[in-house]
Amino acid sequence: MELVVNSPNVKYTDQFIEAKYDYQYTKGVENGKTVVVNNITEKLVFRTDRKIPKLGVMLVGWGGNNGTTFTAAVLANKMGLSWPVKKGIQKANWFGSVTQASTVRISDGIFIPLAHLLPTVNPNDIAIDGWDISGMNLAEATERAQVLEPSLQQQLKPYLINMKPRAAIFNQGFIAENQKSRVDNALSGTKLEQIEQIMKDIDDFKSSSKVDKVIVLWTANTERFSSVLEGVNDTAEHLKRAIKKNHEEISPSTLFAYAAISKGCTYINGSPQNTFVPGLIEYAEQNNVFIAGDDFKSGQTKIKSLLVDFMVSAGIKPVSIVSYNHLGNNDGRNLSAPEQFRSKEISKSNVVDDMVESNGILYKPGEKPDHIVVIKYVPYVGDSKRAMDEYTSEIMMGGLNTIVIHNTCEDSLLATPIILDLIILGELFSRIQIKRQEWSDDQFTGLHPVLSVLSYLCKAPLVPNGTPVDFLQIQI
Ligand SMILES: NC(=O)c1ccc[n+]([C@@H]2O[C@H](COP(=O)([O-])OP(=O)(O)OC[C@H]3O[C@@H](n4cnc5c(N)ncnc54)[C@H](O)[C@@H]3O)[C@@H](O)[C@H]2O)c1
Repeated sequence: MELVVNSPNVKYTDQFIEAKYDYQYTKGVENGKTVVVNNITEKLVFRTDRKIPKLGVMLVGWGGNNGTTFTAAVLANKMGLSWPVKKGIQKANWFGSVTQASTVRISDGIFIPLAHLLPTVNPNDIAIDGWDISGMNLAEATERAQVLEPSLQQQLKPYLINMKPRAAIFNQGFIAENQKSRVDNALSGTKLEQIEQIMKDIDDFKSSSKVDKVIVLWTANTERFSSVLEGVNDTAEHLKRAIKKNHEEISPSTLFAYAAISKGCTYINGSPQNTFVPGLIEYAEQNNVFIAGDDFKSGQTKIKSLLVDFMVSAGIKPVSIVSYNHLGNNDGRNLSAPEQFRSKEISKSNVVDDMVESNGILYKPGEKPDHIVVIKYVPYVGDSKRAMDEYTSEIMMGGLNTIVIHNTCEDSLLATPIILDLIILGELFSRIQIKRQEWSDDQFTGLHPVLSVLSYLCKAPLVPNGTPVDFLQIQI
C-alpha cells in the first residue's frame, strides 16, 4: 500500500517526498503573577529520501534471548511460517511492533499501517549478523533461550545453524560474575585493536551481505555504569586518548559504539548502562552519526509511564510506586548482581520524574513519590517475567487510592518487536532532512545525531544536552 498526499504542501519527485509543515508551539514568560504566552510558528520543510536501502543489522549479544528471538522472528515472518500450538495453528506475525502492527487514521473509515506513511524497510529484507561472547550457533542458542515453540525451532534450525556470532569485546569488570561460564568467544588484544576488529567485521558484513547501510544495536547483557572521569571519557578527544592508553574504565559497550560511529553506523543501546558517556556523545556529534537509547521500554515501564502520566494529569497524586519483578532468563541472572541491577534500577526509576515535576499543585518543589524497584532471579519462570506494581495515590481530603497490577509476559517476545521498530524508525529518520522554508535546498540538514525521537521506545531517553524529548530537535 502506498500513501499519496494530494496537497500543495507536499511535492513528490523521483528521489524525494517534500512536505511543508508549520510547526506551532508556544513559549511562555513568567512575569510576577502573569504568564505571557507567545505563539511561534516555524515554517519548515521535511524531505524524505524515497530510496529504501538494503539494510543490515548487527546485534551485540546476538546469541541471547532477544538476539535469537529477533533473528527467528525475521526469518519466520519472511518465510510465512506457521506451527501447531495447543489452540491450533499459530502464524508468524509482528504483534507488538508499532511500525508493523499499528494503524493511522487517514480519513473517515480509512486506516493504514503506520509503516506505510513513508517508505520504510520491509522487515523481510533485513540482513542480520552480530557478535556474542558465547560462540554458540543461533540454532542452539535459540534452544537455550527457551522462548519459541519447539516445532518452530525445528523449522528454523537449518537456517539458524549456519549463523554464528562473531567474537566480541569482553571485560568481566562490566557484567555479572555469573556470566563467566558463557564466555568462549571473546576478542583479545588492546582496546584499540578490538575496535579495529569490530570495524573490520562491519566492513565484512557489509560487503558479504551486499547491504547499503548497517545499524548496530546493543542487546547484550546489562553492564554496570562506567564512571565518567575527567580527562578519560568526558570529551571526544579524551576518550580517543583513553582508548589508545587501554584505560580500564572504557566499557565494552562504549567500545562497540565507538567502532560503529567510526564506520558511520547508527548505534542503538537497548540496555540501561551509560554507554553514551559525554565523550562518546561528542564523538557522534562530531561525526554526524546517529545514536539512540537507553533500555528498551517493553513492559512494566511502558504501563508505568502511561498510568502515572494519566494520574498526575487527572489531578491524582501518586505517593508510592513499588515495582517487583521476577524473571528466570539469563538477563535476570545477570541482573541479580548488585552493580548490574543498579543500572536497571536507575533507568526504571527516572520514568516518572518529568510528570511529577510538571504538577506544582500536587508536589512541593523537590518532592517525589517513594519509588522502589525490586528485581529477583527465579530460574523456574524462565523468560516469563512477572511484574507486580502497587500505585498508592493521595486523593481528596487525605483519602488514598491504591491500584495493583500483575503482569505476566514473555520478556523477549515483548522486546523483539521494539528492536524491530528501533531499527526501522532509526533507518527512516536517517533519510529525513529538514530546513526552514525560506532557505535554499543546499541548506537541508539531517536530524540531530542524538536521535531522541526513538526515545519513545526507550525507558531512559537519551536527549541532547538535557533538552526535553522533542521530535524537532533539529540543528537549525
Ligand atoms: N523485555 C526485555 O527482554 C528487555 C527489556 C529492556 C531491556 N532489555 C535488555 O536487553 C538485554 C538483552 O536481554 P536478553 O534477555 O536477550 O539477555 P540475554 O542474557 O539472553 O542475552 C544477552 C547476550 O549478550 C551476550 N553478551 C554479554 N556481554 C557481551 C559483550 N560484551 N559482547 C557481546 N555479547 C555479549 C551474552 O552472552 C548473551 O548471549 C539486557 O541487557 C536486558 O536488560 C531487555
